[in-house]
Amino acid sequence: MSKPFYLTTAIDYANGAPHLGHAYEKVLADVIVRFRRMNGEDAHFLTGLDEHGQKVQQNAQKLGITPQECCDRVAVLFQDLCRELAISNDDYIRTTQPRHVKVVQELLQKLYDAGEIYKADYKGFYSIRQEQFVLEKDRLPDGSWPELFGEVIEITESNYFFRLAKHQDWLRKYLEENPDFIFPAFRQKNVVEFLKEPISDLCISRPKERLAWGIELPFDKDFVTYVWFDALTNYYSASLEKGCWPADIHVIGKDILVPPHAVYWPIMLHALGIELPKKIVAHGWWLSAGRKVSKTKTAADADAPQEKSAIELMRELGADAFRYFVIREMNVGQDSEYSEALYMSRYKSDLANDLGNMVNRVLNMTGNYCGRVLPAASVDEPLEKNLRELWETTARQYHALAADFQFHTALDVLWNFVRELNRYANERAPWKLAKSADPADRAKMETSLATMAEGLRLVAVAVTPVMPGIAAKIQTLFGAAPAEKFDGAQAWSDVLVGRTFGEKAILFPRPDDGKAPKKA
Ligand code: MSP
Repeated sequence: MSKPFYLTTAIDYANGAPHLGHAYEKVLADVIVRFRRMNGEDAHFLTGLDEHGQKVQQNAQKLGITPQECCDRVAVLFQDLCRELAISNDDYIRTTQPRHVKVVQELLQKLYDAGEIYKADYKGFYSIRQEQFVLEKDRLPDGSWPELFGEVIEITESNYFFRLAKHQDWLRKYLEENPDFIFPAFRQKNVVEFLKEPISDLCISRPKERLAWGIELPFDKDFVTYVWFDALTNYYSASLEKGCWPADIHVIGKDILVPPHAVYWPIMLHALGIELPKKIVAHGWWLSAGRKVSKTKTAADADAPQEKSAIELMRELGADAFRYFVIREMNVGQDSEYSEALYMSRYKSDLANDLGNMVNRVLNMTGNYCGRVLPAASVDEPLEKNLRELWETTARQYHALAADFQFHTALDVLWNFVRELNRYANERAPWKLAKSADPADRAKMETSLATMAEGLRLVAVAVTPVMPGIAAKIQTLFGAAPAEKFDGAQAWSDVLVGRTFGEKAILFPRPDDGKAPKKA
């Protein structure tokens, strides 16, 4: 049996509540996976929680609970978010699980036995916030450390090092030979640039006296494993039960590409003789007023006019609208600005107006003029032909763009078709034709209902990976079982003819009409 398509996300730090950045990454990954599944592929989808490290240890101390209790609390928040967002992950790894700890220790031992790990003294500056050593060259011109590093302390200690430098040339060559390893391509260029300077070996241990909350080194019980070495291994450790290694895609944010995912991880795998992941997709950041969205609110945020967060709007207006907004708005790889106004504008115009109203017009008219049973199309004039032709190009472009991670443009193309459907409805004006006693007008009215319904069915099937809930609802309202595969469901057809349609439905309630669905 061939191995399933295997996709992973970054595993989130267990030291705070989830926010838009975390939610986006999961939705993006979910959309990729759902496209694959709808294309008939068997897919395995992993996400999870990064539970070790100094920040968790400090947080637990502050709260007066054990680090494990701290992780258990945060795990509930992140897992609930996955459910709320309709994320279809097959597995959820937590780095404190024995299945993971065991593999990390096995890999470390293997590297140690192979001479890839050595012990040495290290004297230098250490960033507590970033949990990494920082270099003189990282200092700002005034000699201070960038805010990103938080508190920086000088330390001297014995540690274990992984021979990263020795594999630098191999990695450079690998990237040259695999120009599509990282998406988008300009990010791969950043990695190539980074590798032009010599890299140092990686310190992969932390003395327990400084950090106890980690995976013990199998060859020295006085040390725990550096969190990145531990965390990166999750992709592999979780795959073992499923036999789905190598990963086909690692979805991550741009901040953790260089060096962890693009340098440490490929070299770790190479040194272990394990196949590399096939691709890394690095998305950009959600910004708010130009700054990265994160859990920490500064004093300036407190003074800013309060606007609803994307997570709040998701809870108010539904997961599908959230998924549409983030996928439509963000060009994968670029940054995107979040604002409540932008969210509401997409919600009202693209969803409630263009799509929701159109579905309701079809439901209303099928109810009023045809006893809720969809009639057949019997007229075939340029208006209908043009629409069918437009669908053909739309579907071709939509699927090609999605295959290339251009989901925002794919949705743009699809919504262009939705707006054409609206224009078609206005031109045919079935509400006028319905008043006429002329059989030719009746035929045109029926044709227009059949055409609009089929157009909307095709849109619903196409948009399933992005809005699985709404897509299923539309198809169900049109008397059809929601399509599980694109195959056979993306060509213009008359499958809906003769089906009994449902009553008018509120797909996207106006947020100010008091009918917004409350979180279940
Ligand atoms: N624990 C590490 C990842 C280890 S993977 C082996 C980590 N955790 S994180 O919680 O800080 O971030 C998790 C993911 O969310 C990362 O891919 C990160 O880029 C993403 N995002 C966090 N904030 C973000 C935005 N504001 N916008 C988009 N995504 C960003 O890093």
